[in-house]
Amino acid sequence: MKRIALLGATGSIGRQTIEVVESHPGLELVAAASGSQSIEGLAPLTQVGGDLVPLLERARPDVVLNAVVGFAGLPATLWALENGVDLALANKESLVAAGELALAAQRRGGGLLLPVDSEHSAAFQCLEDRPPETVDSLVLTASGGPFRGRARDELQEVTPEEALAHPTWNMGPKITIDSATLANKGLELIEAHFLFGLPYERIEVVVHPSSVVHALVRFRDGAALAHLGYPDMRVPISFALTYPERAATRIPPLDFASGLRLEFHAPDVETFPMLTLARRAGEQHGTYPCAFNAANEVAVAAFLDGRLPFLAIAEVVEETLAAVDGAPARDLDELVEADASARSLAQRSLAVA
Ligand SMILES: NC(=O)c1ccc[n+]([C@@H]2O[C@H](COP(=O)([O-])OP(=O)(O)OC[C@H]3O[C@@H](n4cnc5c(N)ncnc54)[C@H](OP(=O)(O)O)[C@@H]3O)[C@@H](O)[C@H]2O)c1
Repeated sequence: MKRIALLGATGSIGRQTIEVVESHPGLELVAAASGSQSIEGLAPLTQVGGDLVPLLERARPDVVLNAVVGFAGLPATLWALENGVDLALANKESLVAAGELALAAQRRGGGLLLPVDSEHSAAFQCLEDRPPETVDSLVLTASGGPFRGRARDELQEVTPEEALAHPTWNMGPKITIDSATLANKGLELIEAHFLFGLPYERIEVVVHPSSVVHALVRFRDGAALAHLGYPDMRVPISFALTYPERAATRIPPLDFASGLRLEFHAPDVETFPMLTLARRAGEQHGTYPCAFNAANEVAVAAFLDGRLPFLAIAEVVEETLAAVDGAPARDLDELVEADASARSLAQRSLAVA
């Protein structure tokens, strides 16, 4: 029996995780947390809001599935990694913001870091047990979001409702906006850098509208391995929670006879500059990725509130990145300071946008 602590239990990933746990006799929910919605009775230990670390200390789970949205998920990520508790990570923002600190905590703790993001779960499976020197490059696929194919001047007036209508994935509001700006793929690029230890120039992003191929790894001998499946987050959730068993799910197998379209093309980085901003922040190292994430969280919240136009999200992030010092954080306090400072610079940039 694997004892699971689920953080972010009321969200899109949280609800799908509950389905996976309920359908697998070897999985048991021992603790659950949400930000504000009631989850009474969902697990023996529950908590709404506040510091999640005492909950985890009490529950002592075998696996933490972190599906909190945003930087708020960081203490739980670090707790699991530091304590050698396996971490099934959906909360990509924590790894983007605190990559070096998180990997150092994992080295000390010795637990597994299992990606739940579908692209990274796919890459993890293609890469597994293969020596890094055999890898040429990693390719992350992007659906392109609801505005794929549009020109910049067609995005001036888009509303949160339009941006929330994702063509292939049904997700929480923050990641759906991130998919529309391509910031999500930017966060994933940085996440992949930390998860797989690959330099940024060896991680490519391609647009693949049907979201059937989740990632590909090219090897030095000219071969490439791809991971395919219908877009359904219960697959990577189940993989992470039952690793290395790869338990059965109710997801239908791929039907090639029905005419799958496997199209790929380069992303339009002129129209969607967030991908380039993320790549640059990643390459600058230090707390630049943390600032990228913080400014993006501030700008997305303002867009969802109707206080910021869609195209200004990237402007706020670019201005914030130009203003931060980006010095590396030696500990969690310094990282939290870098996050707060980037947020206040982003707020200032919002005020003039
Ligand atoms: N959805 C997907 O398909 C998908 C795919 C890949 C990766 N991810 C990643 O998974 C994470 C969750 O995404 P989502 O789409 O599931 O988001 P979501 O639907 O907005 O759910 C977010 C969850 O986080 C909880 N939460 C927010 N702030 C919290 C806090 N301070 N303490 C404890 N819980 C808090 C929310 O609780 P309340 O409901 O009570 O506010 C909710 O349960 C994100 O990092 C996202 O990037 C999602």
